[in-house]
Amino acid sequence: MDKDLMLRTSGLTKTFGSLTAVDSIALEVERGSIHGFVGPNGAGKTTTMKMLVGALRPTRGEGWIDGNSIGALAAKALIGYSPEHAVLYEDMTATDYLVYMAAVCGVDEGVARSRAANLLEWMDLTAAADRRAGGFSAGMRQRLGLAQALIHEPDLLILDEPTANMDPTGRMSILDLLRQLSSERGATILLSSHILSELEQVADSITMIYNGKIVVQGGIDEVRNQFAENQYLVKTSRNELILPILEGSGLVREAWEEEDGFIHLVGEDGPALRRRILDAVVECDADLQHLSREYVSLESVYRRTIGL
Ligand SMILES: Nc1ncnc2c1ncn2[C@@H]1O[C@H](COP(=O)(O)OP(=O)(O)O)[C@@H](O)[C@H]1O
Ligand SMILES: [Mg+2]
Repeated sequence: MDKDLMLRTSGLTKTFGSLTAVDSIALEVERGSIHGFVGPNGAGKTTTMKMLVGALRPTRGEGWIDGNSIGALAAKALIGYSPEHAVLYEDMTATDYLVYMAAVCGVDEGVARSRAANLLEWMDLTAAADRRAGGFSAGMRQRLGLAQALIHEPDLLILDEPTANMDPTGRMSILDLLRQLSSERGATILLSSHILSELEQVADSITMIYNGKIVVQGGIDEVRNQFAENQYLVKTSRNELILPILEGSGLVREAWEEEDGFIHLVGEDGPALRRRILDAVVECDADLQHLSREYVSLESVYRRTIGL
């Protein structure tokens, strides 16, 4: 059966003069899922999102939101977008701003007022509901930006670094809220961050980009397994003999011994590497004190992949 895709792009590209900011990005985001979009500053996340919401025209490539071409009104109507830097009307109160943004999306004023009150409560902004947005802190602006993205109850949320400028507690509450939106309302969410450990907690699938190009993509467990099965942690009574054997085996890409006596091995072929480790232990008549597949955080996969 075909996947039920809310968002899809093919060869999406944006150049600025000689710079290719986004280079042939292919995305597939299933309906109701949370997709994490990760990359360091300058990777091309914001530029990609601006193309998806129709704020920037792609140089090449295409994209569809629930079957509608990106940039078309039918596509825009399905999106709630919270930009990296919230564009607020400084003189409006938080409530008036939300009601105004709802009106732009065709939401009836009575409905908008009640939704605005709920969203402000959800964002912990009730006490600031009648204050001018111009006086808000960076974290408050971001939460108001998020409330704005939700005011017309969109099917697809595109959130550009929604937890930047927030303290750890604020970050956690936003992540909880996103989980809730996805599980209770079936919303599809694409969110970007340069903090992978954070996305790892909420995302069903991820795309990592670097210099405008996709470097890793897939379901979160798939990505983790793909890297985890090739990494082992070993400790023996004769590390000094075993380490050179493994390094010369042709199965190891990286090997190093830590001060605690644990050898870290990274290889291409996990099962073959594991057999070679066991053989080396027997050949050297060593005691095997530890052998395990090493748990790899996505953060380390990411750092290794982009060479940071
Ligand atoms: N309007 C623009 N004109 C020229 N270069 C731009 C413009 N917008 C972004 N860039 C460049 O494109 C690259 C990607 O930027 P951006 O999409 O903002 O990355 P990210 O959001 O991942 O930090 C960067 O090198 C940035 O300097
Ligand atoms: Mg950005």
